[in-house]
Amino acid sequence: MNILILGGGGREHALAWKIKQSPLCGKLYIAPGNAGTKLCGDNVDVNPNDFNAVGKLAVDKKIDMVVVGPEAPLVEGIADYFSENPDLSKIAFIGPNASGAKLEGSKDFAKAFMQKNNIPTANYKSFTIDNVEEGLSFLETLNPPYVLKADGLAAGKGVLICKKLEEAKSIFKKMIYEKMFGDASSCIVVEEFLDGIELSVFAAVDGTNYVLLPEAKDYKRIGEGDTGPNTGGMGCVSPVKFADEPFMEKVRSRIIEPTIKGLEEENIDYKGFIFFGLMNVDGEPYVIEYNVRLGDPEAEAVLPRINSDFVRLLTDLNSGSLDKHQVDIIPETAVTIILASGGYPGKYVKGYDITGIGSVKDSIVFYAGACIQDGVTKTSGGRVLAITSLDNSLSGALEKSTLSAEKIEFQDKYCRKDIGKDLIKHK
Ligand code: AMP
Ligand code: GLY
Repeated sequence: MNILILGGGGREHALAWKIKQSPLCGKLYIAPGNAGTKLCGDNVDVNPNDFNAVGKLAVDKKIDMVVVGPEAPLVEGIADYFSENPDLSKIAFIGPNASGAKLEGSKDFAKAFMQKNNIPTANYKSFTIDNVEEGLSFLETLNPPYVLKADGLAAGKGVLICKKLEEAKSIFKKMIYEKMFGDASSCIVVEEFLDGIELSVFAAVDGTNYVLLPEAKDYKRIGEGDTGPNTGGMGCVSPVKFADEPFMEKVRSRIIEPTIKGLEEENIDYKGFIFFGLMNVDGEPYVIEYNVRLGDPEAEAVLPRINSDFVRLLTDLNSGSLDKHQVDIIPETAVTIILASGGYPGKYVKGYDITGIGSVKDSIVFYAGACIQDGVTKTSGGRVLAITSLDNSLSGALEKSTLSAEKIEFQDKYCRKDIGKDLIKHK
């Protein structure tokens, strides 16, 4: 079958890499793709948010399946665009419709959904310009630190954690009155701070049934020892030791199953991935957020651990037969290290030459913000490359990724050297 992947980051390179390995995959297209996806299929310069252009591409290239990487087109309703258009409705579409994508597109919706379905999450209240005073009073009832979340999509920057009450109040007002995150912060979720260890759990959902992909732990802060500003993710590890069978049983019964049942009760036919951003608080799982896609860089660690045919998983997801699907997971540990442009997540310079990728032998190099200009690979984003290694031990995988990271050079290259080290200690 001909497959079209939408997106152009490290996650999409990992998807293209995995999908291309399947004997079920015919022609593979990636829109817009990057320098890495080009090694797996044909890049097409189409913006995933331009639905007419994506639809035309799907018809022109006789696409049988579309796999959506990022959240924005899903939240904007690209799945509905396909299902409502007679020329496109027979194409297998991997990604939820707009009502399902609200799980990520509106934090207020997600929190209300969790509350309604008794899914463990931090206590919260939502506020708009109509009840600012109530919001300020609610903040006074909470203990520090204070968690403020823009309701809508804010490119991963819409969550602010403040240590002091005065700071929280001032940011709360800025979010509402000064539209700090545009329309995304016209509604704000204020919630309790959960103190624990984070974990990313991924389910492929066919509307009723689900299968779990390997779990991962993402390292979101820019600095070693989890310090400094939040990023899209600086590296990750899969599997995660504390996600043992008793813990995952709680995740399935208290979180995943009630989520899928809740979606069915709202008549939302959810066909795609759900990424459960969880906090492990003293052995009890809580949902921090839902995402309606795979994570990045989690996909770069999770997909290399799947042994079974990933396109078969996607066709089973589309046909509602995941109850008969078995995911074969490689028991080895994957460690992914992100090589970033110096200055990220703030300002950084693009366009530096990247050398040494060809000398990496023990790791997979996924391209994120990297492009090819006049035959030379150059930096083109904040997160440039994701380096994944598999090994029998976490420390072995970390060593391989670290050595590979040292072989690659570009000006102002930055990476965290402590990915997974906290979990080695936890043994
Ligand atoms: P989100 O965009 O919802 O993933 O939030 C970004 C990050 O903020 C999360 O990965 C957590 O590290 C942190 N965070 C969000 N909500 C909470 C909370 N209620 N308690 C503690 N940390 C949180
Ligand atoms: N790594 C977190 C995310 O993809 O949202």
